[in-house]
Amino acid sequence: MSKRFRVGGAIVAILFLCLPVVGQQKETSGGRSSGSIGGKGYREAAGYVIKRLGLRRKSVVVDIGAGDGWWSSKMVGKLGVKGVIHAGEVEQKKVDAMKKKWEAEPQIKPYLCPTDGTGLEENSCDLAFISKTYHHFDKDTQVDYLRHLKKVIKHSGRVVIIEVHADLASGRGKEHAVQPGLLGHQAEQAGWMLLRCELIPGSDHFMATLVKPEAFTEKLSRRHKAAKRKQSKGDQ
Ligand SMILES: C[S@@+](CC[C@H](N)C(=O)[O-])C[C@H]1O[C@@H](n2cnc3c(N)ncnc32)[C@H](O)[C@@H]1O
Repeated sequence: MSKRFRVGGAIVAILFLCLPVVGQQKETSGGRSSGSIGGKGYREAAGYVIKRLGLRRKSVVVDIGAGDGWWSSKMVGKLGVKGVIHAGEVEQKKVDAMKKKWEAEPQIKPYLCPTDGTGLEENSCDLAFISKTYHHFDKDTQVDYLRHLKKVIKHSGRVVIIEVHADLASGRGKEHAVQPGLLGHQAEQAGWMLLRCELIPGSDHFMATLVKPEAFTEKLSRRHKAAKRKQSKGDQ
């Protein structure tokens, strides 16, 4: 067999092997196409997402737009018995359904929240988790919502926002997607620092983590001081 023929054959074989993968990408997630409103793959990556949240025991989380409480149920196990999740919803029927569904998980506390804020006290939460809900906030008040979260979230706390990446959405899905650059800009306007923004593996969703810049600066300088102390001890 000539070398040219062998190389050509290998290329055909690779293309053939790739076909099912391309087919799957065009396929549906829960019966909807990739340009669909729901997007795809983010629940499948729950293990990755939960790990990236870095949840600590005794933490207080507010799950804004909790829906059916699915994400709350994934987070609760990481908080220990003293942790709490306020599962906020603007629809009473969803609150009622969550209360019933998560009856056996008293740490998940479904509640009816206002549309323009969490309704929670200042300095009361370690994490605001907002999955596929940010795009529901009134576009003119998204920055105000983030400003409100700056009060509700503790000094060293975080906000994590998950949305479909606007560049990966098509058709009507675009209306329900968010441009990470715009979100980062809005976060800065509200006094947050965009710590990281990453695509959730195997998904068309991204996950943005916001921290308070003042808290992050303090943390960094503590680390530098500790490293210097360690170094000077080693030098002695
Ligand atoms: C697409 S669902 C996401 C549900 C869930 N977070 C998830 O990722 O599976 C969006 C949810 O946000 C709720 N929602 C819409 N506007 C809201 C607001 N201003 N505050 C809180 N929840 C809101 C809706 O009722 C809906 O249940």
